[in-house]
Amino acid sequence: MPSTPLSKEQLRPFLSTTLNSTDFGNIGQKITGKVRDVYSQPHRTILIATDRQSAFDINWCTVPLKGQVLNQISAWWFAQIKDIMPTHILAVPDPNAMVVKPLRILPVEIVVRGYLTGSTGTSAWMNYAKGVRNFCGNVLPEGMVKNQKFTEPIITPTTKGEHDELIDAKGIVEKNLATEEQWKKITESAFALFKRGQELSAKRGLILVDTKYEMGLAGSGELTIGDEVHTPDSSRYWVAKSYEERMSKGQEPESLDKEFFRLWLKAQGFDYGKPKTAITDDVRLMLALKYIDLYERIIGEKFEIPEEADVKGRLEKNLEAFK
Ligand SMILES: Nc1ncnc2c1ncn2[C@@H]1O[C@H](COP(=O)(O)OP(=O)(O)OP(=O)(O)O)[C@@H](O)[C@H]1O
Ligand SMILES: [Mg+2]
Repeated sequence: MPSTPLSKEQLRPFLSTTLNSTDFGNIGQKITGKVRDVYSQPHRTILIATDRQSAFDINWCTVPLKGQVLNQISAWWFAQIKDIMPTHILAVPDPNAMVVKPLRILPVEIVVRGYLTGSTGTSAWMNYAKGVRNFCGNVLPEGMVKNQKFTEPIITPTTKGEHDELIDAKGIVEKNLATEEQWKKITESAFALFKRGQELSAKRGLILVDTKYEMGLAGSGELTIGDEVHTPDSSRYWVAKSYEERMSKGQEPESLDKEFFRLWLKAQGFDYGKPKTAITDDVRLMLALKYIDLYERIIGEKFEIPEEADVKGRLEKNLEAFK
């Protein structure tokens, strides 16, 4: 573990050089995602992790060095799971970018949950609290409380579209989102990935609470894990040490992921249709520290602050070989 944690002051210079968007005309056809800029070439795709911070499907602000944290955590996890199933990684030429195999991503988000939690409309807790007891084909027992562990992890898929909608195995096959055979393979792989994720996180004093995987078919037709793996944007992480005590006091677990920001927004009175909450520089720095803290806990190494603030210039140089 790092001995001297970073301070807000060390990150302040990066507030003005965050990566909000990129415009590299020469590395492929660009599609702008919520967080990443995706450049497609015929035989490879370049994923650039920007510093955009989204929550509740809204883009709120940029967070210093968040793209680097996301990309590096994802790259690290891809290396830890590559024996479980083929991954899309081809190269990681820059702290903010990965070069991947282009996949035909299946239009379903594979959500695996170890705990009854969440704050969005498709989350397990929000549905359970409304009285739902059959959640995406999983029968949930009566009497569970928020943030309680499930006996076994469950898969709660959503369709991947404008707005995510809950679906079950039957619906996936009926809507041709995946074949029955593919879905069987997908769920088996997803449980194995999640198990590995939970085991390695536990070694670092973290609970991998839940996550979302995206899988697709490579040119060869092989089922491949794409997108991002176990990042704080696609997953929830809690601090293991304080979990039991906080649960017994009825407090929220100590979270090191995007949920922290969602809860903060809700505490500020966020609701759809209401005017957007202002995100101050102080909040942006606090979020940056959270992300970096998570990086250091997961990877077990000190986060390297870039020497140069010019992330765009560095990216351009590092992507030169991938034009
Ligand atoms: N190997 C791959 N081949 C093709 N597309 C990919 C691959 N890996 C990830 N993607 C896609 O790249 C995009 C990443 O960007 P980002 O996560 O910011 O988008 P998003 O707004 O979450 O979009 P979406 O709602 O489609 O997930 C996603 O649409 C993801 O499905
Ligand atoms: Mg995404």
